[in-house]
Formats: sequence, structure tokens, C-alpha cells
Amino acid sequence: MVIVNEREKVFHLYNERISYLFYVMESGQLGHLYFGKALNPKGSYLHMVEKAHRPMSTYINEGDLYTSYEHLRQEYPCYGTSDYRYPALEVQGGDGSRLCKLEYQEYEITKGKKPIPGLPAVYVEDDREASTLEILMRDTWRNLDVIFSYTIFKEIDAIARSVRFVNCGQEVLMINRAMSMSVDMPDADYESIQLSGSWSRERHVKVRSLEPGITAVSSLRGNSSHQHNPFLALKRKDTTECSGDAYGFSLVYSGNFLAQAEVDNYNVLRVMLGINPFGFQWKLGPGEEFATPEAVMVYSKDGLNGMSLQFHRLYRSRLARGYWRDRERPVLINNWEATQFNYVEADLLRFAGKAKECGIELVVLDDGWFGARNNDKSGLGDWKANREKLPDGIEGLSEKIEALGMKFGLWFEPEMVNKDSDFFRNHPDYMIQTPGRSASHGRNQFVLDFSRKEVVDAVYEQMYDLLSNAKISYIKWDMNRSVSECYSSAYPADRQGEIFHRYILGVYDLHERLLQAFPRLLIESCASGGGRFDAGMLYYAPQGWVSDDSDAIERLKIQYGTSFVYPLSCMGAHVSACPNEQVGRNTPIETRGNVALTGAFGYELDLNQLNCKEIEIVKRQVEFYKSHRNMIAFGDFYRLQSPFEGNFAAWEIVRPDADMAIVTVTRVLSEINGPYRRLPLCGLSKSRKYHVKSKYLSYDAYGDELMQYGMMLEDRSSGQAMDDSGCCQDFLSVLYEVTAIE
Ligand code: GLA
Repeated sequence: MVIVNEREKVFHLYNERISYLFYVMESGQLGHLYFGKALNPKGSYLHMVEKAHRPMSTYINEGDLYTSYEHLRQEYPCYGTSDYRYPALEVQGGDGSRLCKLEYQEYEITKGKKPIPGLPAVYVEDDREASTLEILMRDTWRNLDVIFSYTIFKEIDAIARSVRFVNCGQEVLMINRAMSMSVDMPDADYESIQLSGSWSRERHVKVRSLEPGITAVSSLRGNSSHQHNPFLALKRKDTTECSGDAYGFSLVYSGNFLAQAEVDNYNVLRVMLGINPFGFQWKLGPGEEFATPEAVMVYSKDGLNGMSLQFHRLYRSRLARGYWRDRERPVLINNWEATQFNYVEADLLRFAGKAKECGIELVVLDDGWFGARNNDKSGLGDWKANREKLPDGIEGLSEKIEALGMKFGLWFEPEMVNKDSDFFRNHPDYMIQTPGRSASHGRNQFVLDFSRKEVVDAVYEQMYDLLSNAKISYIKWDMNRSVSECYSSAYPADRQGEIFHRYILGVYDLHERLLQAFPRLLIESCASGGGRFDAGMLYYAPQGWVSDDSDAIERLKIQYGTSFVYPLSCMGAHVSACPNEQVGRNTPIETRGNVALTGAFGYELDLNQLNCKEIEIVKRQVEFYKSHRNMIAFGDFYRLQSPFEGNFAAWEIVRPDADMAIVTVTRVLSEINGPYRRLPLCGLSKSRKYHVKSKYLSYDAYGDELMQYGMMLEDRSSGQAMDDSGCCQDFLSVLYEVTAIE
């Protein structure tokens, strides 16, 4: 999977579908050659280097009017020598100079992949799954070793990259900027896709044409954010969901990030991804090391669905880990939208009793169970049961839930503190704040300084105590505000630029310790819904609450956008009450079910408030999920129709053996006497015969017909429905089962 042309010093990472090539330039720096559809591994590709005399440039060698880094496509550009685009690396020495010159030293190819200590990263289970190429670069002037790591997978069309720095000298170095990856693509005739939004409107798909200059998304909030996801895709103008070039760049990180595409004056496109350099500075003392988070690059010739399939496969099976990775997830019910902070144990037992009757497997107790927590003004930090609400504590309640035949789950917000809490009164210095300045609050709460081990220890002890004494199978790990006034009193002035990153390392450390202690614990991540829904969290928490917006129609866009990178197995999706708490919309319970069923399924309402007919529907939904959850979580997902482009949203899940597909089609607003419609499916076997079944439709067709002519859609909305089928209403969703019969 890695070929080195020793004579030309060209490195070629390849599998049967993709190639990635770079070379050592005369100057010793690395130049980029190619990333895309597989090229012949035997080829010689140095002629791809485009080098022409360009007037009014600056050149690195005296007497030579050709060699300028401005013209050369680079692999990991450094600041300061004739390349005026944004660099991947900027290191400052004691002399104040920010120049850095990395020269190639040697390479090493190993089977498999090494972990990155303290950071989430994709991995292999068998060394034959991937090969890793490490390139040692050195700045001799600074005595700085820089190791580029590239892992290519055999069966998945992804390359994982990260960079490690080792200060081999005596001088203190300051890393001001260290991106995880950079790639200079030969042309910029692409559209970029980003997943952007806001609280309760996360990961909407935004497409822009690239133009000269910079297109970027980022976070400076301490969490990857509701606003932008650490991801960027590129597509050609004619790329569709199913065909054409698609590139995806995803950062396995949960803190401040920058994803940037820069088009230069020669139409060369530089894409880079990594920790946001703004506010970042890492002091690298003699002998010290620093590792960047990992970036994953995917290429597909099969359009955006092709790209997403690669991310899904990699992240589902080689980023998510542990006991729950391949296991079917329990159908859960969460009490937050049903009760908010107002409940006592008896209410929860009634709530759980009805859930049991409907076949639900896990009861999750959300916010409000601890300390003096009756609203959001107090209690965070005191992770002990509020005995006024729960006289037998979490131990007693969890036993009672288990006695009903269900598992029990509990909400925590480990990184936060209210000033009105015993934890804060005992440790007023544990929160993040800048001395002498006021500290901003978010939802009346403050952020604990997770860059300090003793703070993480103090939270760990409380959580460990509860998790070892009560029957807790699941935790929902929330994070309800961003970091502001970032400063840690435990670190000196010249290390304050490290705090945002150290904070995230502390979050990862607490996760890791809990998983080591309780390997069967299922963790669902959450940050006011989807404020930290990223690949970094997926390494610890195999599922995450996609958004606080539980309205089925809003969720069409949110889940559709989320699916660009993240697999269904990690998308927490629940049926909630109507009118919906966030948008006041009334949608049929079937629609709410259909949308939530394509995720880690659950409920977020009091089932005791539903009528008998609705309860029957709930029972059928739970049953359907249980019998199909394996393919829902681990099958191939295809986006068929975008809710951003019209009145319909459609997607499809196909079993990897193509034996069955589930297609969800949701029409937002009702229409009258609309056109006949067909929906071309994906991923079926061309030559097999399938039976298509929905509420009002039942017919047989071959796979090729369903993929080319399309699956006919049931549509009875002529405006004169002859029955009470409810098909002439807004927010109608239909589920189609497509089952191979031959
Ligand atoms: C956040 C979460 C919600 C809920 C509340 C509780 O907003 O996203 O699901 O847990 O906190 O305070």
C-alpha cells in the first residue's frame, strides 16, 4: 500500500481505489503531487511538478528564476520563504524569528497504525488492514524533528494524517501554528461543502463555489461547536450524490479548529485542517514532544454518497471502540422534554412502567437529579443524588428500574459548575477564569479547568463513586456552554496558549479513565444537542445527541447534513411530544417515528400522555426498530433527496449483502394533484428481484429497475383522499421496505 521510488524520492500511498503521492524536492522540503482516483503504482510521476518562470516572484536560490515555493505545490508548507499562502506550520525560536525549514531525513513504513497518546484516532485491529508511512523531517537550525504520519487503509478509501514535533535542541520553541494536514490540489474548480448552523439548527449543508482567496470554517469556542463542524468537502460542479469526484476532510478533534481552502493566483487550491491557530501557542521545551490531532482525508469517485460511505465505515468500525461498537443499541426513553427538572421518584417509576409496556429497554434520567438542582442556577458539580426527589438515591432508583426489566442511564455535565454548589464553595479556584477579570456565564454555569489534572480527578472520583455503586449502564455526557475568558491559574504566562487544547485533552482523559474502569458503559455525548458532535467524541462515545431540536421536520435537515460524515449508529434521534417543544409544530407520530428510526432510536416524551392508538403505534415502532436495528446502525446509508432543495427528503439504508433496504420518504408540505414520482434507489443487487412494500403499495421489481427507473412512490394526495389515511396532510412520512425475494 506504500511504494517508494527511491531514485525520484516519490512516495505513493495507494489501494485499489485511491492514490496519494508526494515527493522530496531538491530543497529537501516535501512537494505534493496527487490525491484522487488510483494511479498505477509503477508509474513515475515527477513530471506532474509544474514549474515555470513567473515574473515578480521571489526565488529561493540566487541565480535561479524558477524555484519559488509560491509556485510549488507543497505537502506541509512552512512560513516565511517565498510562499505567501497560509502555512501549515509556524514555529518561533528564542530569537523571535518565525522561519522554519524542514528537510527530509528518512522514512519508515510499518504495517498497521500506532495510536496517538492522549488523543482520539482511527485504529486497526489487524496490521494487514493498513500501512503507515512516517517521514522524518528536520529543521537543523532549530534542532526540531517533525514526523509526518500517513496511514492508508486497504479496504477503506481514507488516509489518516497527523504530525509530531520533538524538540531535540536546548532552545525553547513556540509552536504558533501546527495544522494536522495540508494538501495543495492542482486546480480549484471545486465547490466546497461545509456543515454549519446554530444551536438547534446544526450541520445544515452549505455549498459555495471556491473563488480566489480563503473559504474557511472554524471554532474558537473551546468545543467544535454548533456553528461549524470540523469538516470540509470538495466536489466538482457536476458531482452528484452518486457520481463524480468528492473529497472529504474531517478532523478527529473536539476543540477549536480551522478548516480552510485557499485558492491562489494560479488556481492552486490549498486545503488545511487542524487546531485553530488563533489563540493557540504551544511551548516546546528541550526534549518535549507535541502531537497534532488526526485528520482523515477521503476520496470517492462515486459522489458524495460514496464519500460518506467511506467515512461511515471508518468511523463506525475503526474510530468508535469498545463493547458497544458493534452491538445493537438499546431503545431508550429520556425524561428531559417530559419533566425538565420537576420530578420525584414516583413520577419516574410511572414514566418507566409505561416505557416497559412499550418494549423500551433503557430509561435515561436527565438533568435535575443531583445536588440542589431544581433549575439551571444551582447544583452542577455536586454529583450526588438529591434525596428530596430520590429518597433511595440513584442506587435505589436504578435497582427499581432494573427490577422492571430495563437498564438505567444517567445524565452528567462533568465539565461544568454552578457557583451555587458545594463543589464550587470547596474549590472556587477550579473554574476557568482570567485573574482580575469578570467571568462570563452561560446558562448560569461556569467551565471547570480541565487542563488541570486535579480538577479532572475531583470529577472522576464523584462519577466513579456513583457508577460503581449504582446500576448505571449508560451516561449522557452533556456540555452546555462554550469556554470564555480562557486562562488557567495552574500554568505560567507563556503556556496560556495551550489551555484550550489542554482542556480538551482533559476531557478525553476523563472519558478514557471512565471507559477503562467501566468498559461496558455506553456513553452518549451531547453539548446542548449537537455542539460537540465530532469525530473526536466518537472515539469515546459511540453515539451522540444530534440536536436539541427534536422536531421531525427540522431533523430532516439536521440528520441529512450530519450523515455527510457520521454514521447512523452514532446519531441519537428521539420521538418527542407534539406540539414540539422547540418549534411548536404538530407532526404525525408516524413521521416522528420514521425520522428517528434512522438513528440511535428512542423517545423523549411521557408515554402516559399518549392515547391508546398512539401507544399501539409506539409499540409497532419499537418492534420495527428492534428487528431492523442491526441494518439501521451498520448498513450502508444513501442520501436520495435533499430537504435543502425541495419539499421532500428521502434516504435509504441497505444491508451490506443487499438483501434488504429501508427507504424513508418525507414530504414537508402537503400538495394537491402533484406529479407522479419515482425515486431511484442505490446499493441494490441489479439482478435480484425485490418486493417493495409500504402502507399502500406492494409490488415486485428487479434491482436494476429500482435503481434506474426508480421506486414508485405511494401518493394518494390527489386532494380527494377517499379514506382517512391522513395522506393529505403536511409532514407526511412513508417508510418503504424493499426485500429481496430471489
Ligand atoms: C442540554 C441537552 C438536553 C438536556 C438539557 C438538560 O440542553 O442537550 O438534551 O439534557 O441540557 O439541562
